[in-house]
Amino acid sequence: MGESITLLSRREIEKMREAGRLACQLLDYLEPLVKPGVTTQDLNDEAERWTRARGAKSAPLGYEIPNGKCPFPASICTSVNEVICHGIPSPNQVLQDGDIINIDVTPILNGYHGDTSRTFLVGEPSPKARKLVQVTEECLKLAIAEVRPGARLGDIGAAIQHHAESHGFSVVRDFVGHGVSHIFHTAPQVPHFGVRGKGKKLRAGMVFTIEPMINEGTHEHILLDDGWTAITKDRKLSAQFEHTIAVTQFGVEILTRRED
Ligand code: MF3
Ligand code: CO
Ligand code: CO
Repeated sequence: MGESITLLSRREIEKMREAGRLACQLLDYLEPLVKPGVTTQDLNDEAERWTRARGAKSAPLGYEIPNGKCPFPASICTSVNEVICHGIPSPNQVLQDGDIINIDVTPILNGYHGDTSRTFLVGEPSPKARKLVQVTEECLKLAIAEVRPGARLGDIGAAIQHHAESHGFSVVRDFVGHGVSHIFHTAPQVPHFGVRGKGKKLRAGMVFTIEPMINEGTHEHILLDDGWTAITKDRKLSAQFEHTIAVTQFGVEILTRRED
C-alpha cells in the first residue's frame, strides 16, 4: 500500500457510488439463497452469473495480493463459522443449520470497485453466535458514525474496539480496511482497533472500507495451506461486516448502503 492517500473527484465518487450500489444489490440477491443444504460454490456461481449479466467483473477472481501468493481462485469470499476472512467457495462445503457465513463481494463496474460484506445466519444459530453477529454489525455502524473531515483513523478503530471488547469479544488485528477506487486495495490502511485522536486525519474525498472482523475468543489467526483462508487460532466463531464509504464535506456517505 502506498503512502499518500488519493482524494477522489466528484466524478470518481459518482463511479464508486454506482459500483457500490451494484455490490449492495449483489448481497441482496444472494441473501435469500443462504439456506441449509446450499453449497458455498452455489453461492459463488450465482454471484458470478449475476455480476457478468450486469456488465461487471468479480475483482476477487484471480486477484493477487502484492506480496505474491497464489491468485484467489473464486468470485466471492465465503467465510463460515471459524473462518475470519478469505474463505474459498467449494462444492464440498454444504451450509448447515446453525452456521454463520460472511459473504464478501467486490464487483468492478466501469473500472471502479464496490467492496461490501455481511454475515448471514443459516437457519437458527446459537444465541452466542447471533450476539456476535449483532455486535459486529453494530461495530461497523458505530465506526461509520465517527467519519467526518478532521476525525482520525484512530477514532474509527477505537469505536470498534470499545464496543467489541465491552461485549467480551476480540478485534482481529492482522486484516484491516483499505482505500478503494479503481484499485482494489490502496492507502490508507484502516485498523479496526486503536486510540481516539491518533492516526491520519480524514479529509473529504477519501474513499475506504471499514470491515471489522470480530471474534468470540482470541483475535489471532492461522492461515490454511490454500494460502488464503484465515481461521481463528482457537476455532471459535468470527463475524464481519464491511462497507465502502466516502468522506464528504458534511460527514460520510455509505457507498454500499442498502436502499430502503
Ligand atoms: N473483499 C476483500 C476485502 O474486503 C478482499 C478479498 S481479496 C480476495 O478486502 F482475493 F480474497 F478476494
Ligand atoms: Co470485501
Ligand atoms: Co475490503
